Amino acid sequence: MLLNHEVNELTIAASRGLSDEVVQTTRLRFGEGVAGRVVQTGKAIFVEDIETDARFMRSNGPNYSSKSFISVPLRVKNRIIGVLNVNSPEKQRIFEERDVRLLTILADQAAITLENIELYDNLQNFYLEMVQTLARAIDAKDSYTHEHADRARRYARLIGKKLMLPEAMIRHIEYAALMHDIGKIGIDETILHKAGKLTPEERDIIKKHPAIGNRIIAPVAFLSPVAPMVLYHQEWFNGQGYPEGLIGEEIPLGARVVAVIDAYDAITSDRPYRKALSKQVAIEELNKGAGSQFDEKVVKAFLEILRDEEEAKLVHATNS
Ligand SMILES: [Fe+2]
Repeated sequence: MLLNHEVNELTIAASRGLSDEVVQTTRLRFGEGVAGRVVQTGKAIFVEDIETDARFMRSNGPNYSSKSFISVPLRVKNRIIGVLNVNSPEKQRIFEERDVRLLTILADQAAITLENIELYDNLQNFYLEMVQTLARAIDAKDSYTHEHADRARRYARLIGKKLMLPEAMIRHIEYAALMHDIGKIGIDETILHKAGKLTPEERDIIKKHPAIGNRIIAPVAFLSPVAPMVLYHQEWFNGQGYPEGLIGEEIPLGARVVAVIDAYDAITSDRPYRKALSKQVAIEELNKGAGSQFDEKVVKAFLEILRDEEEAKLVHATNS
């Protein structure tokens, strides 16, 4: 059970052998029942026989088919974050003092692991929010809106799923879809916003954005798999892209996915030099580029997703 510090209540975070109903409805206030008392005092409680122990709350009634019971605190430094409860079913063995010692060791390990997971999650969320903020800052600079960032991220996930990629990789591609143009932060705005044709020198400057992005992202440990996707998102499947002219499978798959999403987004958005084009034009462009600019199988997956979307819209329209 973990303690929610805001409401001072214990709820079951993980269990084995309890019914779903018990898991979902069990709530113990700080100081209430055995577990609540363990949280309050920070001391383990060992109940040899539940039937004769007044401390045990029978509110969970017949669901607890146990005879003896141990509750040990989950402690990180001096903070109690929850309890580890163990019931021994009747007719099997009754717990002994050494079980309490063993569980205390296990609880200490579990508490540290839980704390690490929480820190790690917080850190990841922090980075992700920072990245989203940065992505939006770039969007503002490059005349995009935050809807584009959100949409890019959603498409990245859907394509990853269609290609049956592992979850961790899908997440990295999502980040890459959000961040691929982060390097534009290092490029002169007058070039980014130029309405007319770019000079060859200006084009060379813009072509530095994947490498700048790579330098920004690579030092962040958990984003290191994202860095190559950013570095190579302007490569073409036939080797005609930049910065290195990689060919086909040499280009990281994540980068090939980002290239398709980015092209679609660019065509269907207002640009400094033209108005947004239709979805139909974008689909034609992707089909035209499949096998030359883009990886054919990524285009195929993406077009399927667009079709699914259309179908869902139609179903929605007919239902409402
Ligand atoms: Fe780019």
